[in-house]
Amino acid sequence: MVSTFAELVDRAGALATPGRHAVLGIAGPPGAGKTTLAQALVAALPQAWVAHVPMDGFHLADVELERLGLRDRKGAPETFDAWGYAALLRRFLAGGDEIVYAPAFERDLEQPVAGAIPVPSAVRLVVTEGNYLLLGEERWAGLRDVFAEVWYAELDHDERQRRLIARHVRFGKERDAAVAWATGTDERNAALIATTRGRADLIVPSSLLGSLGADSGHEFLS
Ligand SMILES: Nc1ncnc2c1ncn2[C@@H]1O[C@H](COP(=O)(O)OP(=O)(O)OP(=O)(O)O)[C@@H](O)[C@H]1O
Ligand SMILES: [Mg+2]
Repeated sequence: MVSTFAELVDRAGALATPGRHAVLGIAGPPGAGKTTLAQALVAALPQAWVAHVPMDGFHLADVELERLGLRDRKGAPETFDAWGYAALLRRFLAGGDEIVYAPAFERDLEQPVAGAIPVPSAVRLVVTEGNYLLLGEERWAGLRDVFAEVWYAELDHDERQRRLIARHVRFGKERDAAVAWATGTDERNAALIATTRGRADLIVPSSLLGSLGADSGHEFLS
């Protein structure tokens, strides 16, 4: 059992050594605090050898979602390039002298942006986070052996919805639309993700983060 944030930092830091690259995954439902936890861990570890690579960057672009007829499913498991995500993490694990560039998800545009996140060769721990890291189905199944560990971010249902609605409003949705999205699409995805909780190596209650997450303003990568 881990009971303090400092213990989480130690556990994450111990996953990688100078000769061994490692990927720490953080899964969990929308709004549970995955991005906030990843940012806090990365900030607490030596900047030279840790990087944050969100799964969000692997959202398919709208142009491809249109082509596939999946525009109104955006955010569902089939609307991500899970194979590209796995390939990028494997390329990092393989080592090499070149920078690995990861894409980011830009929340104002609601589009992925290629080449936004540099992972220099000195990095030995990548902290990655997203909804579907523990999903067993087709395109996600190949990911499991990429992760040294996967942690599951957990937050009380009502508080999670409250934060999601607040964020949707902050990024431009009308209040009614924000509530509809948080209780509809987000909730359907949350139910699916909850079925993967048992596969996690560690459950991280949001209380462990304390006040760390309270609106840091770093939403570009979240
Ligand atoms: N301790 C906290 N108190 C209040 N709000 C918080 C706290 N921690 C995080 N938040 C806010 O809650 C929202 C959700 O957090 P975060 O973005 O980390 O979750 P997430 O799991 O990455 O969500 P998503 O799956 O949608 O990417 C954010 O707007 C964040 O600023
Ligand atoms: Mg996030």
